[in-house]
Amino acid sequence: MGGPIARNPPRSPPYVLPCIIALAFLSLSALFLSKVDDFVSQTKTVAGHNLEPTPWHLFPPRTFSEDTRQERAYKIIKCSYLTCPYSTRRNNDTELEERRLFVSSLDTPKCPDFFRFIHKDLQPWAKTRITKDHVMAAKEHAAFRVVIVGGRIYVDLYYACVQSRLMFTVWGLLQLLRRYPGMLPDVDMMFDCMDKPSINRTEHGSFPLPLFRYCTTDAHFDIPFPDWSFWGWPETNIKPWDEQFREIKQGSQTKRWGNKLPLAFWKGNPDVDSPIRTELLQCNHSTKWRAQILRQNWVEEAKSGYEQSKLSNQCNHRYKIYAEGYAWSVSLKYILSCGSLALIITPQYEDFFTRGLIPRKNYWPVSPINLCHSIKFAVKWGNTHPLEAEAMGKKGQDFMENLSMDRVYDYMFHFISEYSKLQDFKPSPPSTALEVCAESLLCLADPKQREYLERSTTAPSPAPPCSLEPANANFMKSWIEKKKKTIEDVRVMVEKNALRR
Ligand SMILES: *[C@@H]1O[C@H](CO)[C@@H](O)[C@H](O)[C@H]1NC(C)=O
Ligand SMILES: *[C@@H]1O[C@H](CO)[C@@H](O)[C@H](O)[C@H]1NC(C)=O
Ligand SMILES: *[C@@H]1O[C@H](CO)[C@@H](O)[C@H](O)[C@H]1NC(C)=O
Ligand SMILES: *[C@@H]1O[C@H](CO)[C@@H](O)[C@H](O)[C@H]1NC(C)=O
Repeated sequence: MGGPIARNPPRSPPYVLPCIIALAFLSLSALFLSKVDDFVSQTKTVAGHNLEPTPWHLFPPRTFSEDTRQERAYKIIKCSYLTCPYSTRRNNDTELEERRLFVSSLDTPKCPDFFRFIHKDLQPWAKTRITKDHVMAAKEHAAFRVVIVGGRIYVDLYYACVQSRLMFTVWGLLQLLRRYPGMLPDVDMMFDCMDKPSINRTEHGSFPLPLFRYCTTDAHFDIPFPDWSFWGWPETNIKPWDEQFREIKQGSQTKRWGNKLPLAFWKGNPDVDSPIRTELLQCNHSTKWRAQILRQNWVEEAKSGYEQSKLSNQCNHRYKIYAEGYAWSVSLKYILSCGSLALIITPQYEDFFTRGLIPRKNYWPVSPINLCHSIKFAVKWGNTHPLEAEAMGKKGQDFMENLSMDRVYDYMFHFISEYSKLQDFKPSPPSTALEVCAESLLCLADPKQREYLERSTTAPSPAPPCSLEPANANFMKSWIEKKKKTIEDVRVMVEKNALRR
């Protein structure tokens, strides 16, 4: 640049000033654009933009459908900053108050028994309560933080979640607020979205960390909360729960019990670092072990339009096996929905609703010790007690039918309400959090995600949530002991039977 200018005569010709102004303008716009670029690259979104995978569970980064950098920048700015402030769904205090009065005047049925686990899950904080320090310490293990204040959701994002888990989990919370407008208290919650619980009861015994995720174990403080798949799982073509349940139930009715194959069936992915699934492969023998174990090949099935993996076409066996994956598996609810007798290999992980299942009432417990023998025993028992087996299978299906989205929202409502009662501080969104509303989330969704999200949109509830029973430690204790005993009785039965032959 210096060259040509230096060669100019010393007296500035008239075009120099406009040139300088133009140059200044250009460099200002370049500066502006690079600032925008910076800004955009620091804006994290529920779609996963600008987020690294959780360090405790790595996975390949997501690819985005926007073609160019500009397109992406435009989308991020539009969805993250320019959507919620103009959202039309603003609460009207007068209307909310009228609604609250109306709803509280209605009779409410009792919540299902397993809702009582809410008290048990929150027991660790009953004395200490949940302080800001508890929440901030849980951040170390969290992928994101959700702060609800005045019926609005603010999300602070730390790490990406695999596939669309993050988006669908936040969507679930947005729908909860829509369902019970003006009824949710202010809360501050840390979430992780990967499979394995991380708050070890031994290690964190003196200072339990409240961390929401999709499952827990007896040895962890992690709080189980409904997983993303209740609102749909676009990557595997699994529909929003109410719709998916109806479809599976219908599919299950195409064959009467007597016409279903008198064998145990499992289809899934055995390559998920799950010892029990690996062992299950050994039981693949329809005469020796009365079991058919099939490998789910997602690549092949994606090619054939998922016809083979359609859940409603998988209810042709009298017995369906549930085996945990890397941790708990969302498949359990679809297995139980079939109305076949669910052979549940005694799980180590539990999600929020499986705690309500009762062995020999709505499923058959299978011991992981002597696995193939245990499966064969269950099938033989069922084939010699067909009426009981069918009834037990039906009860499993009824249990899932009872767990409609209405109940899922009720569970979330009660959990969050009880959690908020323990908070000893007034939640407020951190400066790094952004408001997320239904419109902004839809704005970020790709076309397939949007389709699933829209299908799982809810409307304000015409009735209040079911009523939660008060905490009752004795009830819980005897529930858990009874369940353990039944499982143990079945294990002993199998063992005696295996010895006799
Ligand atoms: C809120 O709703 C009430 C009753 O429907 C209405 O009279 C009032 O104008 C509304 N207020 C606002 C701010 O929209
Ligand atoms: C919890 O931590 C203790 C002590 O470090 C360890 O022995 C135990 O195996 C851990 N439990 C789980 C479930 O990881
Ligand atoms: C189980 O056995 C069947 C029939 O022999 C076979 O087609 C299938 O591939 C086997 N499953 C696995 C996971 O190997
Ligand atoms: C379904 O819910 C109803 C009402 O709460 C209850 O009476 C019934 O026992 C439940 N059925 C099952 C199978 O859990």
